[in-house]
Amino acid sequence: MRPVGVVVSNEGPSPNVVEFVVLGDEPVHQGSFVEMDHPEGKLIALVTDVKRTNRYFEHVEAVKEYSIRSSMEKTFPVGEWEFTVAITRPLVVWDGEKRMRPTTPPSPGTKVYFPDKETLFKVIGFDEEGLNIGKVAFHDVDAKLNLTNLLQKHLAILAMSGAGKSYLTSVLIEELLERKPEDGRLAVVIFDVHGEYVGFAADDSPYRSQTKVFDGSEVSLSLPRMGVAGLYELVPTLSYAQYRELGRIMDELRKNSPSGSFDLDDLIETVGKDPDIPENTRRSLLASLYDVRNLNILGEVEHPPIEGILEPGTLTVFNLAPLTSIRKKQMIVAYYLRRMFNLRKEGKIPPTVVIVEEAHNFAPEQVSRVEAVSRPVIETVAREGRKFGLSLVLISQRPIKLSTTALSQCNTHIILRMTNPRDLDHVKESSEALDARTAAMITSLVPGEALIVGAATYFPVFVRVRKRKSPKSQYEKDLEEMAREWEMKKSEENDVLEYI
Ligand SMILES: Nc1ncnc2c1ncn2[C@@H]1O[C@H](COP(=O)(O)OP(=O)(O)O)[C@@H](O)[C@H]1O
Ligand SMILES: [Mg+2]
Repeated sequence: MRPVGVVVSNEGPSPNVVEFVVLGDEPVHQGSFVEMDHPEGKLIALVTDVKRTNRYFEHVEAVKEYSIRSSMEKTFPVGEWEFTVAITRPLVVWDGEKRMRPTTPPSPGTKVYFPDKETLFKVIGFDEEGLNIGKVAFHDVDAKLNLTNLLQKHLAILAMSGAGKSYLTSVLIEELLERKPEDGRLAVVIFDVHGEYVGFAADDSPYRSQTKVFDGSEVSLSLPRMGVAGLYELVPTLSYAQYRELGRIMDELRKNSPSGSFDLDDLIETVGKDPDIPENTRRSLLASLYDVRNLNILGEVEHPPIEGILEPGTLTVFNLAPLTSIRKKQMIVAYYLRRMFNLRKEGKIPPTVVIVEEAHNFAPEQVSRVEAVSRPVIETVAREGRKFGLSLVLISQRPIKLSTTALSQCNTHIILRMTNPRDLDHVKESSEALDARTAAMITSLVPGEALIVGAATYFPVFVRVRKRKSPKSQYEKDLEEMAREWEMKKSEENDVLEYI
């Protein structure tokens, strides 16, 4: 194998920075991996920068003078004096089995190679049975992420809007749905804010039979099932006195009804006439209950019944796009996530991964509990879910607005293009495994390019996300398409009119 370069003693080499001069014509890209001999094995390094130099072009006066009269190329052998220098960050020393932290640099003069496919696959920590999200950037290596490492301790997908978060999420869902039972399958649940995942159930989707879509406007949260504690989670404005009275009345309703069940109207009626409630408590309690009734979401029975629908290797989409009230959307997330957490504890549903789009709206930082009723349960699952096989995938374009408690529990971050400096700083602070030189490359990613940081890989890896197999949903149409459809529809209508 021909070397791509030779280590130089320009600045360093040190265990943190190794530079090499590129030999031959094979391009060396920023973000690619190289390998060099090391006393303890192979040193694997990430190319963090690539520079071209040419001594002939260093002196501005000379360059200008010669270029005005003739050209530098005609006067001097400049081509022979152009050098490409790659700056790398050593990541790991690999002896074929063990990974060691690089603590000594390679000697100047050491030859540099591109690592072969198997070495790179293994040293990154990919798994043959893992989720294949694409290829390692600049290498023909499948990025197959181990399920446990990626999801058990939760995943955050962070990027500006339009960078490819939802696209990547669709790819991840496809991989989860394609797993074989012997490799371990999860039930997948997504809270789909923009209706971007309903395409999984479309007629031309290969995942149609594995997907169930529930429209947000049909959802009903069971009042008897949530009890007073669950109601308080959804309506945190209840005072202690109100809570106590409600608890008592809900118990009585349950006992007195033949089915053990009741609805919000029963509750309101009983609160209205119960002789033991002090008048001012009654008034404020009724105001709160009427307020909730206006949302038209609490009912007697739960729909969809979550216990019956979660199966390994299936996708459940809560399409929240038809809903306008953020409070209602939060209530749905809070209720079902709490239910899934409890059902997992009791072992009544399979291990499940719950994907939350626009997570900063469901677990916002620095917003009162009243305006963020889904935040406490998201934080609880983030802290404790791994013990019970309940994983979270939090997706956000405003990581700075996302609950720090929840984000800090996500042990893997997949970061796509991001340019807002405040969000970038926040991501750097919350990703322990992310060094400054790798982080500096995030702003130059293009849509579909992702950086994986944290528990899923042994060091940060750039990946090109593969093409999806599931059809795009109607919400993902581009503007030209929408405009054309509008005009088509109009002209069809006009045709009809002309015939009349
Ligand atoms: N890996 C990819 N391959 C091809 N197209 C992509 C890829 N990732 C994103 N895109 C395209 O980029 C656009 C924005 O992607 P999207 O996932 O909706 O971004 P986000 O959710 O971050 O706002 C979409 O039109 C999508 O089709
Ligand atoms: Mg999106």
